[in-house]
Amino acid sequence: MVALQIRNIRYRYHDGTYALCGVCLDIQKGEFLAVLGPNGSGKTTLLKHLNGLLKPMEGEILLEQKSLAQYSSREIFQKVGIVFQDPNDQLFAPSVWEDVAFGPMNLGLSKNEITHRVEEALSLVGMLQHTNKAVDALSFGQKKRVCIAGVLAMKPEVLVLDEPTCGLDPAGVTSIMTLLKELNDKYGITIVMATNAVDLAPIYMDRLAIMYQGSILTVGAPVDVFSNTDEIKHACLELPQIAQLMQVLRDEDNLPMGNLPLTVGEARKFLAHRLNGIRLMIRDQVSA
Ligand SMILES: Nc1ncnc2c1ncn2[C@@H]1O[C@H](COP(=O)(O)OP(=O)(O)OP(=O)(O)O)[C@@H](O)[C@H]1O
Ligand SMILES: [Mg+2]
Repeated sequence: MVALQIRNIRYRYHDGTYALCGVCLDIQKGEFLAVLGPNGSGKTTLLKHLNGLLKPMEGEILLEQKSLAQYSSREIFQKVGIVFQDPNDQLFAPSVWEDVAFGPMNLGLSKNEITHRVEEALSLVGMLQHTNKAVDALSFGQKKRVCIAGVLAMKPEVLVLDEPTCGLDPAGVTSIMTLLKELNDKYGITIVMATNAVDLAPIYMDRLAIMYQGSILTVGAPVDVFSNTDEIKHACLELPQIAQLMQVLRDEDNLPMGNLPLTVGEARKFLAHRLNGIRLMIRDQVSA
């Protein structure tokens, strides 16, 4: 089942910059998709099209087989939630509660339902204890969580995030990614996120789309996308760090290997297997 179909969309900004030059992409229901690409490749522009903040100059986007142009803004915002890169562009109410309640209030829900949704969303992002705090007094990472809560309170089917881990410390990155994975796995929310964090991709995502100069170069499972090292280089990206080490071991130190391990877990499994093999060989030689 396809949640969103992006059909050959083009977009040019007022100053004449062609930011999207014919992008086609199907986003499957329930998948966790990362859009990777260098600065200026069009990730943010593409994401802003997914909930109608920008309208394509050519081509169209279908949400559940129906053109986005046929939905009201309210219907789209209910189904597709977007979290901007900078939380300060998103948060506007004085307190955490008011900010998260804004969307549900606009849906005309009952007071009880609004309270329930705000508490549930804040609890999911681990911010329930900050319900009454002033937004200005939050740390950067806490602001990001409140932005995600604001979108979750709308109960969207698709969650679109622009560089959600940017500016977070390592523990913050892990906790946001774990939360997103849980929302994806447990609640079936389709997730599309723009990121430059190649190390995260093979750990959390089902599929990757690589953008370069307003076009999508390739789409596929991390193992397939990262196996094309020339294309990764062409898109000014790098392999995950652990895969870079494994690539050197394979290509320069002649360690035979099939697919490059992309995560620490995969590399550990491969190396432990090899090292155990060598240990057994040495033991056999010593005892012979
Ligand atoms: N408001 C704007 N007016 C004019 N040009 C813009 C505007 N916003 C973005 N662009 C241009 O559109 C192109 C794509 O920008 P976009 O922000 O979508 O890239 P990105 O992949 O999200 O980059 P980054 O990794 O830096 O966030 C760039 O060339 C950029 O300069
Ligand atoms: Mg961007």
